[in-house]
Amino acid sequence: MLGQDVAEAAARAGHDVTAVGSSALDVLDADACRARVAGHDVVVNCAAYTAVDDAEHDEPAAFAVNALGPAHLAAACAETGARLVQVSTDYVFDGTADEPYPERAPVAPRSAYGRTKAAGEWAARAAHDDVLVVRTAWLYGAGGRCFPRTIAAALSQRDTLEVVADQVGQPTWTVDVARVVVDLLAAGAAAGTYHATSTGQATWHAFAQEVARAVGADPARIRETTSEAYVRPAPRPAWSVLGHDALGAVGVAPIGAWERRFAEAAPSVLAG
Ligand SMILES: NC(=O)c1ccc[n+]([C@@H]2O[C@H](COP(=O)([O-])OP(=O)(O)OC[C@H]3O[C@@H](n4cnc5c(N)ncnc54)[C@H](OP(=O)(O)O)[C@@H]3O)[C@@H](O)[C@H]2O)c1
Repeated sequence: MLGQDVAEAAARAGHDVTAVGSSALDVLDADACRARVAGHDVVVNCAAYTAVDDAEHDEPAAFAVNALGPAHLAAACAETGARLVQVSTDYVFDGTADEPYPERAPVAPRSAYGRTKAAGEWAARAAHDDVLVVRTAWLYGAGGRCFPRTIAAALSQRDTLEVVADQVGQPTWTVDVARVVVDLLAAGAAAGTYHATSTGQATWHAFAQEVARAVGADPARIRETTSEAYVRPAPRPAWSVLGHDALGAVGVAPIGAWERRFAEAAPSVLAG
């Protein structure tokens, strides 16, 4: 979902882009990573094991893609001097804060997925000194399954929906994250950690209501529920609000308010 928009944004910015999916490159294959990285100035790793609940039952498989993959790509980049952008997640945090997590906040993942993504950040940095870790959260986009599409489809099949109202985050369009990645590279941003999420904050319930409005449905059809009533194998962070100081420090424009960005994204995201 994100990789397609990064490839498109980079091409639009005038870069020569090689976009590879999992059939063209298995990031578990170190030699294949080396061969693919050769000849490139920058590698943006959007590949990941993203099935958050499945990861609870098969952490080694998630660890392989989310930690060994970045390690292989980082080692290949270190050999050629390419920069590596490693995409990461709010799940590296414990989700118990009540103010935005700064980039330097200690990681304390509570799920298998979060542990493997935190390991990926560490592995990439350990193998290469020119890594930009770009953490994002609550992603939606035209190129994959995502929350707004699920809600829109459910609204067409059911009268009312129950959506959790006790998890807080920042709904973020993949197109905006792609723009931030391209801008960070254009700004020559130093190796380090950057947060790329919309500004403001919402519950999943509030986001679902916004989706309802976008499809012309009555937002009152979206009812509130709690994480306790809707238990999933992987614990969800209750608080996934990220701070954006590092972006500001390198002069990269913030993404902007989630409601405004979703209004712009909705026609293309919900059309798919
Ligand atoms: N979605 C979110 O809400 C969210 C939130 C925060 C952070 N992120 C992070 O953002 C990044 C992009 O997420 P996304 O939502 O765009 O994920 P996605 O749509 O699930 O895409 C992940 C891609 O990784 C590929 N992949 C899996 N195993 C691979 C392997 N061994 N070698 C090469 N490619 C492999 C998948 O290919 P197949 O489909 O063929 O397996 C898929 O194309 C990830 O780093 C994710 O952790 C996502």
